[in-house]
Amino acid sequence: MAKVLRVEGGTPLTGEIYVRGAKNLVSKAMVAAFLGETPSTLRNVPLIRDVDVVADLLRLHGVEVDYNDEAGELNFDTRHVEAAHVSDVHAYVGTSRIPILLCGPMLHRLGEAFIPDLGGCKIGDRPVDFHRRIWEQFGATVHADKVSESTYIKAPPGGLVGTKIALEYPSVGATEQTLLCAVRANGKTELVNAAIEPEIMDLIAVLQKMGAIISVDADRIIRIEGVDHLVGFDHWALPDRIEAASWASAALATHGDIYVGGARQPDMMTFLNAFRKAGGAFDIKDEGIRFYHPGGELSSIHLETDVHPGFMTDWQQPLVVALTQAKGHSVIHETVYENRLGFTDALNQMGADIQLYRDCLGGLDCRFGQRNYYHSAIVSGPTPLKGTDFEVPDLRGGFSYLIAALAAEGVSNVRGIDIINRGYEHFMAKLDRLGARVQKQGTR
Ligand code: EPU
Repeated sequence: MAKVLRVEGGTPLTGEIYVRGAKNLVSKAMVAAFLGETPSTLRNVPLIRDVDVVADLLRLHGVEVDYNDEAGELNFDTRHVEAAHVSDVHAYVGTSRIPILLCGPMLHRLGEAFIPDLGGCKIGDRPVDFHRRIWEQFGATVHADKVSESTYIKAPPGGLVGTKIALEYPSVGATEQTLLCAVRANGKTELVNAAIEPEIMDLIAVLQKMGAIISVDADRIIRIEGVDHLVGFDHWALPDRIEAASWASAALATHGDIYVGGARQPDMMTFLNAFRKAGGAFDIKDEGIRFYHPGGELSSIHLETDVHPGFMTDWQQPLVVALTQAKGHSVIHETVYENRLGFTDALNQMGADIQLYRDCLGGLDCRFGQRNYYHSAIVSGPTPLKGTDFEVPDLRGGFSYLIAALAAEGVSNVRGIDIINRGYEHFMAKLDRLGARVQKQGTR
């Protein structure tokens, strides 16, 4: 039975909610636990589907995983890991992009790894060529099975060997792949053009607790000295800055006022600047941030997504919904994913005025400028939004549709809301707390 969310828009979201650990750190720290020869504990863990998927994959490999929702605590006993049956792992085809990061830990502890066809949001091609090159540079042999789209990887007889890697683009996943392969490789590894997102720095903190030796230089070069053994960790996951920015955008789009407990200024500075320039207001407290619409008109802005410390691509979609209510023409240039503006079609159906362009608008030329991708947009406003029926396309796009439906006049029926559970903990309960008029309905 598919679920439909009936959203009656036009009510400002007001109240207080709390965000727990970042999806994009928690899933990686869970993978890192596999490297430890003694048990680990991860705290501040949200109850989201990506956590369930990684926990199940770890269990298939002999890890005892135990989750306490109230405490937000995950415990892992990794003392007796074993290879899983390929058919069991296959059941996870398309569910998450995390299996690819299990590769390094599996090569170290089991000598081989099997990676099913990956899932994740359809926001571009999302190739894995960087990952493949990294495994090969560490000395692994890689066999890709074209029929099942699965990958089999084998460590060399003496184990992975440290290497020099220069990324052609500072990919988050490729940086994490390198870290997870290098920490127990023989010898030293140097990674040039690494990504340095806060979630990556938190993963490095986890690995250091486990016994790894990693230094991050000012010019985004990461150096890792391989060690023979790693132990378990006890770590409190950094809060989810994507979820925090999503609720902030919801406050702005609905003329609301939301206190987001757990939101942290240092990880969100670029977002806060854009939010303020667009006319949003915020009060920063020790334990969270209050985001609100201060009244008056919102202003159009220029937004260019980039790797850290730039404006995160994952913040773009929710904020664009609020920008439909800003006066003038906002210019958006998406430089991380080639196809992350497709969600604007549905916003236009609701009454927004968003034009897409293949050119790099308003900023530097990016990788997509010569390649015919619609990766820039002009959002003209303010335009009133009206309720409509739509299907959730992906995680962030889905939450953005929800924001649009909440800001719109009239009723929207939103299908496929289960995708949102991948990354937004208890989002229905949070909407309820904020006074949203939403109702889940079953349909055949
Ligand atoms: N890329 C390649 N080849 C590769 C790997 C990446 O060309 O082998 C390209 C991608 O196609 C993309 C760019 O490099 O154009 C950046 O991708 P990156 O590897 O940085 O992304 P990722 O590791 O797959 C993570 C997050 C994403 C987030 C990006 C960018 C997780 C599980 N996912 O993805 O989060 O958008 O970094 O910050 O950490 C989300 O949470 O909704 C989400 C999509």
